[in-house]
Amino acid sequence: MSQSSESSINYSFAGKKILITGGGKGLGRALIERVYKDNASVFTLERDAALVEQLKKDFPKITAETVDVSNWKQTQKIIEGFGPMDYLVNNAGIIIFEDFVNITEDQVNKLLDVDLKAVYSITQAVVRGMISNGVAGSIVNIGSIGAYIGTKGTSVYNSTKAAILMLTKNLALELGQHNIRVNSVSPTGMNTPMFAANAHELPPDSCLNRKPLAGEKILEPDVLVNSILFILSPLSSFTTGIDLLVDGGVVAC
Ligand SMILES: NC(=O)c1ccc[n+]([C@@H]2O[C@H](COP(=O)([O-])OP(=O)(O)OC[C@H]3O[C@@H](n4cnc5c(N)ncnc54)[C@H](O)[C@@H]3O)[C@@H](O)[C@H]2O)c1
Repeated sequence: MSQSSESSINYSFAGKKILITGGGKGLGRALIERVYKDNASVFTLERDAALVEQLKKDFPKITAETVDVSNWKQTQKIIEGFGPMDYLVNNAGIIIFEDFVNITEDQVNKLLDVDLKAVYSITQAVVRGMISNGVAGSIVNIGSIGAYIGTKGTSVYNSTKAAILMLTKNLALELGQHNIRVNSVSPTGMNTPMFAANAHELPPDSCLNRKPLAGEKILEPDVLVNSILFILSPLSSFTTGIDLLVDGGVVAC
């Protein structure tokens, strides 16, 4: 491919309003770095106050609020105050490793509240703003390879991610009439604080140990950012309701 045709495939988020949840570290922070550099107007909701302060230092023009996204009313109120968004990435998430026979009601509630329920409240508030302002917006929900394969100790986490994929399809159908696209992106294990904190939990027989794609050792957040921004942007203007699996071929095995 010639240099000129390569450079014709691009899109700028400059001047666009984008909400990325859980922007304090990991994938959320990598996304923020990229679109901030591209002069987007960046918003985030992050539960860790120290990370919010760091974001404000590193990205002076960011709007970052300290909030636990599982608080439905508080989160929706903050989003209403932001005004209409062009883009939303539902990224904030937690994982708790526990065998099915031992998992507690509290652990199940925490996972459902953050990894599933919060996606309802946040998306609802953002979509209402888009519709009432006639914005043809785009949304990406972060899923997981756990929506496709079982992994030990993560029955609830994986179930929430499978639900995210179905929610994405339903929203694509309901919101298409407003020209709002909704897709999901499902990464395999990725080099973030979440993965580092739980890497010891990966048993030797885990499907995640399959590595069909030569060369890459682990998915880096910055590599996933390319896939997310591609599907979020008008470069994917005819794509809605799909899940983009970014797994280095693990599920193909
Ligand atoms: N890291 C992986 O291996 C992996 C694999 C597949 C999918 N994912 C998904 O990718 C997304 C990002 O994960 P990550 O690896 O960057 O995680 P991370 O733990 O490194 O970062 C998550 C960020 O979200 C914030 N957050 C968590 N719960 C929150 C809440 N209730 N309210 C507000 N903020 C909250 C955290 O404080 C943190 O800043 C998640 O949805 C996760 O499920 C991660």
